[in-house]
Amino acid sequence: MDKFIIDGGKRLCGSVRLQSAKNSVLPLFAASILTDKQVTIRAVPKITDVFCMAQILRELGAEVHFCGEDAVIDSSDACSHEISSALTKELRSSVFMLGSLLTRFGRALIAYPGGCDIGLRPIDLHLSALKRLGVNIRERDGYVLCECGKLKGAEIVLDFPSVGATENILLAAVKAEGRTVLQGAAKEPEIVDLQNFLNAMGAKVRGAGTDVVVIEGVKSLGGVEWEPVKDRIEAGTFLIACAVCGGETEVVGVRAENVRFLLHKLRENGCKIGVKNDRIRIESRGRLHSNRRIETMPFPGFPTDLQAQATVLNATCEGCALIVENLFETRFKYVPELQKMGADVEVRGRNAFVRGVKRLHGATVTAGDLRGGAALVVAALGAEGTSEVLDLSHIDRGYADFREKLKELGADIRRVRT
Ligand code: EPZ
Repeated sequence: MDKFIIDGGKRLCGSVRLQSAKNSVLPLFAASILTDKQVTIRAVPKITDVFCMAQILRELGAEVHFCGEDAVIDSSDACSHEISSALTKELRSSVFMLGSLLTRFGRALIAYPGGCDIGLRPIDLHLSALKRLGVNIRERDGYVLCECGKLKGAEIVLDFPSVGATENILLAAVKAEGRTVLQGAAKEPEIVDLQNFLNAMGAKVRGAGTDVVVIEGVKSLGGVEWEPVKDRIEAGTFLIACAVCGGETEVVGVRAENVRFLLHKLRENGCKIGVKNDRIRIESRGRLHSNRRIETMPFPGFPTDLQAQATVLNATCEGCALIVENLFETRFKYVPELQKMGADVEVRGRNAFVRGVKRLHGATVTAGDLRGGAALVVAALGAEGTSEVLDLSHIDRGYADFREKLKELGADIRRVRT
């Protein structure tokens, strides 16, 4: 198991080239088995969630090769419709393979993904939507078995704008008979990326990015070469790191509207924000003001994947802040680790009350999940003294070259094997 050793207090100055969005690349890998032609996905981040998704495709019989930054996928020989429990537990988001497998094979068998460190993460919305498309579903001994004759287009309403359920519906409806109208769709930029990717394969999807998406079923889909949208959560993580540490940092490749709510909050803290095309520049000097209130919401609201990082930022601001986590039940598990660094945070259910202190101090902390782990790194970068962040396997799931990019900005961070 590796750990980071971080000497805090260094200002972060420079430019960060963003990775392709983890939460776009994963559904694009799932979509690649909708055709038996070759699919190339460019600038794929070297993160363990991507390697796990590649393994899932290989277990289905597809060939996946990494050539430099690109992933080349050929699923012409794919023949299995089953995903093992080991892989489903490893990668919860494999659940949106259901839509692809049903379109490709008319059947899908996956282990029930179960909960994880941030919440229960049920899949009821996925399953009820698939039933609307004519899928028979049986759940037994922790497995979900889905079967369908021909998928048929339908009117679907999502009670909650679930990202994964929206993606599953696109993947299941794209070759269904007739039209599917999805109301209450998630509006994340990664859904728009998936729509554009599918349309480049010959699909007929429109409306992604709004809450009504219309899919006209087509007979077949061709191959595609695609560069995914950049990672807005990685961008937000680096912008918040610079706000915490002080300095001037620029993130390159992200559209401002994909992080609009975060930029509004950072300005509220007293940071100077400049936007030019796909470059966002932040300047942070002196002690910042607290945000007073941040509520995580589905896009375009404040992203839950930046909640931990925003709590860290408010932990050293002037004033108090209420952080409300509306999407996941237990997404404050990183707080006890943050308290070891001197943070004054009190968690009650979905609320965290943060009283800003002048400075955090170094400590040895353990990452428990992907975004909580990244937030602990941000806290250590701004803290006085030396910190150790243990169990980097969580961070490696979603941040490629995290240490290298921080080091280039001036951070004093080393990765050592324990
Ligand atoms: C996606 O997860 C992202 N993962 C998550 O990012 C992100 O936090 C989340 O969307 C919300 O934006 C990927 O894209 C791979 P949801 P997903 O379905 O699809 C409830 C990260 O750190 N729900 O929008 O699983 C669910 O319990 C990860 O990169 C149901 O109740 O999220 C949660 O409370 C973490 N029933 C809420 O909806 C369902 O059938 C949001 O879930 C499905 C979801």
